[in-house]
Amino acid sequence: MLKLVGVETFYGKIKSLHGVSLEIAAGQLVCILGANGAGKTTILKTISGIVEAEYGTIHFNERRIDRMAAEEIVALGIGHVPEGRHIFPELTVKENLHMGGFLLKDRHILQARLEEVYRHFPVLQEREKQLAGTLSGGEQQMVAISRALMLKPKLLLLDEPSLGLSPILVEDIFDTIKALHESGVTILLVEQNVNHALRIADYGYVLTAGKIFLSGTYDELREEEKVREMYLGEGKYVRRSKLWGAA
Ligand SMILES: Nc1ncnc2c1ncn2[C@@H]1O[C@H](COP(=O)(O)OP(=O)(O)OP(=O)(O)O)[C@@H](O)[C@H]1O
Ligand SMILES: [Mg+2]
Repeated sequence: MLKLVGVETFYGKIKSLHGVSLEIAAGQLVCILGANGAGKTTILKTISGIVEAEYGTIHFNERRIDRMAAEEIVALGIGHVPEGRHIFPELTVKENLHMGGFLLKDRHILQARLEEVYRHFPVLQEREKQLAGTLSGGEQQMVAISRALMLKPKLLLLDEPSLGLSPILVEDIFDTIKALHESGVTILLVEQNVNHALRIADYGYVLTAGKIFLSGTYDELREEEKVREMYLGEGKYVRRSKLWGAA
């Protein structure tokens, strides 16, 4: 469904992605793991056209998208839930969701989508008139995800959805992601919560300093000594970091 080949992205003269190649088949849940500053967010921004790939190609369902504008890419069916959520705190839950459906001209379709999203997240229906800024962190993350779902994306890009949530809410958000995946949405998930992410993902890529350094299934990655040491808190040179995640 999505294929990146040799993607290189720059901020000014500084190269952030050094020839990134990765692939996601329809129906998969693939995760990108990596430390702060590795380039995870940059990969998602490059896919959705927020920043431009200087070199390399990105294909989505056989169409080349790496020269397209962000609006065109959304319309093709790629939804992006950015890091840090970026919901509109002064708008109600429902208004936030309507913003997500901005490309829908038909009010009936908009209403149907809203009902569909509420089926996934009943708590949002209960709180549809509440200002989004007054929701809990987990609920705000649900609004951010739901807003992207309003356009019924074929591929959903999720940038660190568990960041800043308490352990119980982290569990909830991973349950939510798993349920979305099981309902048929293809997902590219960026996470630092390695244990959780690998458990629900079909496949994982480990990014270091803008390069894919390892890739594999949960079992394959778990067998890699470097992954165990750096990300799972095992092995000889255990490095304490937020990459541990709850075991
Ligand atoms: N707008 C920007 N201008 C200049 N440099 C940037 C910009 N955005 C990101 N970078 C740099 O690109 C590199 C990759 O950043 P990116 O945000 O993709 O990392 P990340 O893996 O998502 O990190 P984190 O886990 O902290 O979110 C970093 O060195 C960062 O400083
Ligand atoms: Mg990031």
